[in-house]
Amino acid sequence: MDETSKRQYAEHLGLIAAHWEQALTASGFDAVIVAAGRPKTHLFDDLAPFFRPNPHFALWFPDRHCEGAVLWFAPGQRPKLHLHQPEDYWILPPTVPAWADAHFELAVFSQAEQLQQALLAEAQGRRTAFIGERAPANLAAALNPAALVNRLHHQRAWKTDFALACLGQATESGVAGHLAARDAYYGGSSEFDILSAYLKAAKQTEADLPYPCIVGLDEHAAVLHYQHYKRSRPPNSRVFLIDAGASCRGYGCDITRTWATPQAGAFADLIHALDEQQRGLIDTIEPGLSFVDLHFAMHRRICALLSRFELVKCSAAAAFEQGISQTFMPHGLGHLLGLQTHDVGGWQTSPEGGQQPPPEGHETLRLTRTIEAGMVFTIEPGLYFIPMLLRELRAELGGKAVNWSLVERLTPCGGARIEDNVLVTADGVRNLTREAFRRADGAE
Ligand code: GLY
Ligand code: MN
Ligand code: MN
Repeated sequence: MDETSKRQYAEHLGLIAAHWEQALTASGFDAVIVAAGRPKTHLFDDLAPFFRPNPHFALWFPDRHCEGAVLWFAPGQRPKLHLHQPEDYWILPPTVPAWADAHFELAVFSQAEQLQQALLAEAQGRRTAFIGERAPANLAAALNPAALVNRLHHQRAWKTDFALACLGQATESGVAGHLAARDAYYGGSSEFDILSAYLKAAKQTEADLPYPCIVGLDEHAAVLHYQHYKRSRPPNSRVFLIDAGASCRGYGCDITRTWATPQAGAFADLIHALDEQQRGLIDTIEPGLSFVDLHFAMHRRICALLSRFELVKCSAAAAFEQGISQTFMPHGLGHLLGLQTHDVGGWQTSPEGGQQPPPEGHETLRLTRTIEAGMVFTIEPGLYFIPMLLRELRAELGGKAVNWSLVERLTPCGGARIEDNVLVTADGVRNLTREAFRRADGAE
């Protein structure tokens, strides 16, 4: 860490400690133990997917090489970090990062029994909560008590300066990848080669990625989480959608761009118009707005596009009333972003708990909270031609209301999504993604 990061990290830990102290007191605990977790092997296998630490552990310890580590925290005391360093020649065991020493009492263990003894002693005489998958045997601790976990989840919506700096770094990497991916697409690359170009430019390994890259050409752009990477490129490709992120110290960005060739015809204008509407919507963001209202405002904008591009035969207002935009944008407008791509607490109404689920018919909306300064979330409208949903709409509405011949002509273009990550400020919003694109490539 450089000097600025060290300062930000120290402030970050101070804020986290103060909040956790409050949360422990309010929920009736004296101390908390947080387990980073361990890789979980596949069924009947001895291999595991890439390790992801418990995000509550990652909040304190921003290094994902922490398999088996455990944090102990009690208000007023120096947090203790138990780092697992097994005698092992199959993997490189985690090491103690240079920056950790200043903030934690460090205890390195190699055998599970050593940790067990230490935790039992730490929990002795204290009302202890355990945050993780499974508390060690004989440990008298409440496993993920809702009264505490709710408070911790709710608070994660607000990002510290350290978290924002990490997200900023992640965004720089992601944007470098996106520009390389765009160039690879226009250079004639396949999905697989575009993915390779992305990873190289973003300097990400698969394990670094906050989520698997979505690299879809043409109809694949209509598969919301398209998961394959075709080795060959279709002739006369029209559209390329890439939803890809990058991470820094556990914080990940989540960015989508859609690009078109001249073969896309009117669809290229539709992408441009969607981009304009996405920016227009972001301009309206300020503290106090409900994210649900913002989601509906985007649906109204999508309906205006459907009407303007003559994809519907009715007015934008009539399309909205009939819910037609839900066929074309069947996902939520956005979600909280941070240590998790879909950060926790998106429906939570208060630190104590309580949920505001999304309105009926909009179940995929992951964020229903009132917007407040310091929150980071995505704004990711899309407009897709998804055959399965179009069939349902046609069965429902018959030949009316929708211009089916135009829909059929545009279906081979798949779809478009534009996704930026925004930070709410005291009186508005910063678009972290576009700021980074402007720095990297003034032309975006
Ligand atoms: N990349 C997943 C999402 O946009 O939510
Ligand atoms: Mn995304
Ligand atoms: Mn997203």
